[in-house]
Amino acid sequence: MKSLELKINYMEYDSLDELSTEDRELAQAALDAIRGAYSPYSHFNVGAAVRLSTGEIVIGANQENIAFPSGLCAERTAMFHAGATRPDAAMSALAVAAEQDGKVCAFPATPCGACRQVMAQYQARSGKPMEVLLVGSEKIWKFSRVDDILPFIFDSLK
Ligand code: THU
Repeated sequence: MKSLELKINYMEYDSLDELSTEDRELAQAALDAIRGAYSPYSHFNVGAAVRLSTGEIVIGANQENIAFPSGLCAERTAMFHAGATRPDAAMSALAVAAEQDGKVCAFPATPCGACRQVMAQYQARSGKPMEVLLVGSEKIWKFSRVDDILPFIFDSLK
């Protein structure tokens, strides 16, 4: 028997200015996408932006429903939109930002388990890492692949 340790390496930034031009553009797209949130129940507005291998950015925002489970998170809205309309493009990065009480959350909103599993699937489908950028107004976290926010990913039936 032995005890094992799992380490996750990620970057933390204090502001958008510290990001590369490409990442700043994606983070800003996620922040802008918050506008499309429909959250009459939680009042928690989330925006997501997916960068495709073509360089194009596709956005999504959370969409709630009176039958609660029928609603969908921002991340899956963005990824399913990208998957449905640009099936041949890899999703190379995904950014998420959230807002509550009219203010962008200071600390990054971290994706739910179902969204992480969907990210994992698109990453496996393209065979290339999908970066994850979690954007808060005071801290921004960057993970270089989905595995870092979903250790022990379920990605095969073998
Ligand atoms: N939500 C997202 O859209 N993404 C997340 O990463 C966390 C949660 C949404 C779902 C629901 O509309 C609201 O935020 C409150 O959970």
